[in-house]
Amino acid sequence: MAEIVTFSMIKPDATARDLIGAIIQKLESNGLRMKAGRLMRMEASLCEKFYQEHKEKPFFHSLVQFVLSGPVFVMALSGANAVGQVRKIMGHTDPKQADPGTIRALYGESIERNSIHGSDSLESAERELNLFFNETEWK
Ligand code: RTP
Ligand code: MG
Repeated sequence: MAEIVTFSMIKPDATARDLIGAIIQKLESNGLRMKAGRLMRMEASLCEKFYQEHKEKPFFHSLVQFVLSGPVFVMALSGANAVGQVRKIMGHTDPKQADPGTIRALYGESIERNSIHGSDSLESAERELNLFFNETEWK
């Protein structure tokens, strides 16, 4: 199967609890390879653009405030079926409903503070990768 690249982000609830290494370990041991990655604080304008699909949702402002509340670790991850594979390892949005052993089941604190983001399609992966990385870094 051809390698594809997806975007993932370790959220502030997890960076605050020193879980970056544990989460990367989980991704790497499940067939994902990091092509680019860095710890950063997002600007409000970037965060709002990143979450533009949720602009009309009741949780939008709370979500943006949460993601701006601390550092995030952004990653370009490659692998066979990387988009689906990362989503599988992350688990359900709500940690209470996530399968045992998934990142959100292990580390998520609530439906909002759920430790990790992963692009949900090839199209969003490309859009999100280009918000955080140069093409020379991930292509
Ligand atoms: P993500 O985008 O972070 O990978 O997560 P997802 O696809 O599983 O969930 P999505 O529906 O795209 O929601 C994006 C993020 O918004 C927060 N959220 N809060 N309070 C709520 O009901 C609620 N629902 C979603 C979560 O941080 C979720 O990951
Ligand atoms: Mg999503």
